[in-house]
Amino acid sequence: RTPLKDLTDNHVGSAVNASALANEADYRSVLTSEFNSVTAENAMKWSVVEPNRGQYDWSGADSVVNYAQRNGHSVRGHTLLWHKQRPGWLDNLSASELRSAVKDHITTVVNRYEGEIRAWDVVNEVFDSDGTRRDSIFQRKLGDGWIADAFRWAHQADPSAELYINDYNTGWVNDKSNAIHDLVSSLRQRGVPIHGVGFQTHLSIDYSFPGGFQSNLQRFADLGVDVAITEADVRMTLPATDSELTTQADYYERIWNACEAVSRCVEFTTWGYTDRHSWVPNTFDGQGAACLFDDSLNPKPAYNRINPSI
Ligand code: XIL
Repeated sequence: RTPLKDLTDNHVGSAVNASALANEADYRSVLTSEFNSVTAENAMKWSVVEPNRGQYDWSGADSVVNYAQRNGHSVRGHTLLWHKQRPGWLDNLSASELRSAVKDHITTVVNRYEGEIRAWDVVNEVFDSDGTRRDSIFQRKLGDGWIADAFRWAHQADPSAELYINDYNTGWVNDKSNAIHDLVSSLRQRGVPIHGVGFQTHLSIDYSFPGGFQSNLQRFADLGVDVAITEADVRMTLPATDSELTTQADYYERIWNACEAVSRCVEFTTWGYTDRHSWVPNTFDGQGAACLFDDSLNPKPAYNRINPSI
């Protein structure tokens, strides 16, 4: 079959589990043949790279970047600032200490991989569903300006990386996606270096497909930034039935086609490519089977639907 990566000019990626990458040859092999972009599922998050202040562990992050370089994949860096998976030591800092810790973190991580990361998710999940700023330690202690600062620091550390804001439940017009649209518009007007908007696209067949998905991507592209599908998966109640897998195929096809139809949509990345390694069963009770490939790395109906060479 023609691999997914050869069906489009867009980057075709998957989140990568660093330990599977190290230990499972079959996992590596399908990742290499079908995809041309990788995102570290956890290995670049702040709590992983700097669990104690000033004590770094780059092993997972390096292994993902090295794999990508050896196999011709580009890397999506994920993520510099997120309210989750942040190290505990952050919480005891004063506002001014936190501000310098944030700047240090961005500068250190982005510098380490300068020129090796195609795009960074600079900030992740910074709005609540009602469109107000999420009450994170960053927001509470640093105030509204922390997001613009983060983009400026990241740009200084690697002027060649595309810098993104990333979030979930933003695939249709709602209070949160409107808030991101407003923020990106204002950052661009003020000359803040932001180049893209990431749509996580964690979907469930228990909810209808996001209405106006393609036109919603387009309204962000119209701000003069790229858009990317950064974490797509489509979960369902287990055990998966044929009819659920067919609905899942419809959803994946619609995501893929929307990105193909929007010229500034530059990336289709799934949050893991195999049900063998997926965050869904550990996160959503009784749900799973969310990926394009099954546990044995066989393509599922959703894969066959987006790949016309099958
Ligand atoms: C998830 C990982 O997949 C899990 O292994 C981890 O335990 C928690 O984080 N949105 C994001 C990702 O931006 O970083 C999250 O990844 C999934 C939701």
